[in-house]
Amino acid sequence: MDKTVCELFAGVGGFRVGLERASKDWDTVWANQWEPSRARQDAFDCYCAHFGKEDTHVNVDIGLIDKATIPDHTLLVGGFPCQDYSVAATGAKGIEGKKGVLWWQIYDTLKAKQPPFVLLENVDRLLKSPAKQRGRDFGIILASFWDLGYSVEWRVVNAADYGFVQRRRRTFIFAYRNDTVYGQQMAGHDSLATLNTDGFFARTFPLKPNVIASKKDLETHDLLEITQNFAFPFETAGYMSDGHIATVKAEPDYHGPHKLLRDIMDHDVPEKYYLGDDIEKWKYLKGAKKIERTSKTGHKYTFSEGPIAFPDPVDRPARTMLTSEGTTNRSTHVVKDLDTGRLRLLTPNEANKIQGFPEHWTDTGMSDRFQYFCMGNALVTGCIERMGKTLGQIIDRED
Ligand SMILES: C[S@@+](CC[C@H](N)C(=O)[O-])C[C@H]1O[C@@H](n2cnc3c(N)ncnc32)[C@H](O)[C@@H]1O
Repeated sequence: MDKTVCELFAGVGGFRVGLERASKDWDTVWANQWEPSRARQDAFDCYCAHFGKEDTHVNVDIGLIDKATIPDHTLLVGGFPCQDYSVAATGAKGIEGKKGVLWWQIYDTLKAKQPPFVLLENVDRLLKSPAKQRGRDFGIILASFWDLGYSVEWRVVNAADYGFVQRRRRTFIFAYRNDTVYGQQMAGHDSLATLNTDGFFARTFPLKPNVIASKKDLETHDLLEITQNFAFPFETAGYMSDGHIATVKAEPDYHGPHKLLRDIMDHDVPEKYYLGDDIEKWKYLKGAKKIERTSKTGHKYTFSEGPIAFPDPVDRPARTMLTSEGTTNRSTHVVKDLDTGRLRLLTPNEANKIQGFPEHWTDTGMSDRFQYFCMGNALVTGCIERMGKTLGQIIDRED
């Protein structure tokens, strides 16, 4: 089996950077990236600046792509948003997901191409959505995979728990077709052993052995029924095979080196990144506050939030980088410069390094603002590198 990859929602290429670092055998045969409602396509341009302007790098809304035209591939990868995955009945025709919900684009690709392996990334709250029916949306994803002949492992990974320079918690989903050598080998495997020691994530991100927190059977492939009735307290690690779900609370077991924010900070930083006379405003944004507010219905309430560190400590990993990084916003990092001791924002280059991209990766003609935005959307490439190594071993045994 070759190590061909299809990269959906490619952004600036985080999956590709990580996989290629794991092994030069990974070969991305098709990639798609399109920034909705924007004339400029900075992320796609950045992708092409590094990986070439090829016909197989496609800058079109994925919804407009006939999935049958995508080349065959062994591994489908993509980071996709947490949206409402519920389905509705459409009369005699069956069921339909909501328009613009990108999971259904992945689903259509799985149906058309049936890749043996799949690796996806989403935010950690995916497992608990929506608030009124916790676990429904992830249940829909699991039932979809089950219906298409796949088993699934998932894991919420905080990159900093495995030594990376950012505290970023993301849900990773690994799915494999049941008719692969790996699928047959894992079939009937004890779910606790899969979760604690033998499974894809246990091998990649070791964890302390734990007991099963909950178990449940999906019972139906019917996505409408799942939409209406399914709820489950998904924990941070789990496994679904043949409709049987088991989940455990993942406690990382990592003894390697830890990177700190100071380790990746730039020197000789240009003046434009320093705070000016707006320091008081930053202090206010980062500080504790209690504000009287009135809701739309006229109800008065007190909005309150606690303080966050100001400046951000450089002897810890960074906080999660959001797409709003760099704007005057409570979640933007403010650090004490290592050379001057003055307060400043992170540079776009530091944002690149916090996600584990090579230096100046997004410096391909886009504004600073969009460089931060792209990094807020991207992922910790080192996590993908680790997964790419495990996956490489799995695929080598397929022949
Ligand atoms: C969470 S980000 C993934 C970023 C990527 N993993 C990286 O390392 O940069 C999702 C990406 O999907 C893109 N996107 C959103 N809607 C899309 C659509 N309809 N078709 C294609 N791409 C889309 C966004 O522009 C964004 O870059």
